[in-house]
Amino acid sequence: MSHARHAIAPSGKPFAFSPDNEAKFAQLLPKYPTKRAVILPALWLAQEQEGHITVEAMEYVARRLEQPAVAVFAVVEFYTMFKTEPTGKHHIQLCRTLSCWMRGYQDLQGLIERKLGIGPGEKTPDGKFSFELVECLGSCGTAPMMRMDDRYWENLTVEKLERIVDACNQGRDPAGEDH
Ligand code: FES
Repeated sequence: MSHARHAIAPSGKPFAFSPDNEAKFAQLLPKYPTKRAVILPALWLAQEQEGHITVEAMEYVARRLEQPAVAVFAVVEFYTMFKTEPTGKHHIQLCRTLSCWMRGYQDLQGLIERKLGIGPGEKTPDGKFSFELVECLGSCGTAPMMRMDDRYWENLTVEKLERIVDACNQGRDPAGEDH
C-alpha cells in the first residue's frame, strides 16, 4: 500500500551502522542477487538501530549500496513498516485486515482512541504510546492481534488490551497481562 508522506527534514544526526549491524549488513550482501535488493533489509537494520528512519540513514544506505538516494527514499515511502518520525515508547500496530476485521479489531481501536486519546498515525503527548493500523501481520489464526514492543499480542479482547495498556502506563511489564 502506498502512502503519500510529507518530505522529511534531515535530523542533523550523522548515521552509520553499529558494529553489530555492520556485521549483519555484511551477511546480507551475498544473500541477495543485486545491491538494490538489499535496500529493504538494510533499511530495516537502520530502523532497528535508530527507532525510525532519518534522512541521514537513507543517504547512508544509498551510499553503502551504491544506489541513487531516490531509490531508497521510494522504498521508505512505500512501506508502512518504515517510520520517518520517532514513535512512542510503545508503538501499537493494530492489524485491520480480514481475519482481524472479522474478529473485531474495530473494538480494539475504539479502546485505544478512548483510553489513550489517539487515532491512527498519532502519538500521546507524553510520548508513551503511538498507534497505527497496519495490514495483515501473518498471525491471522490468532486474530485479532497487534504488534507492540517487538512482539505479537494475540487473541486480543478489549479487556486484555486494556490490561496491557494499563501495565505500560504503570511501568509494569505488559507481558504479564498476555493471558
Ligand atoms: S488478518 Fe490480522 S494478522 Fe492476518
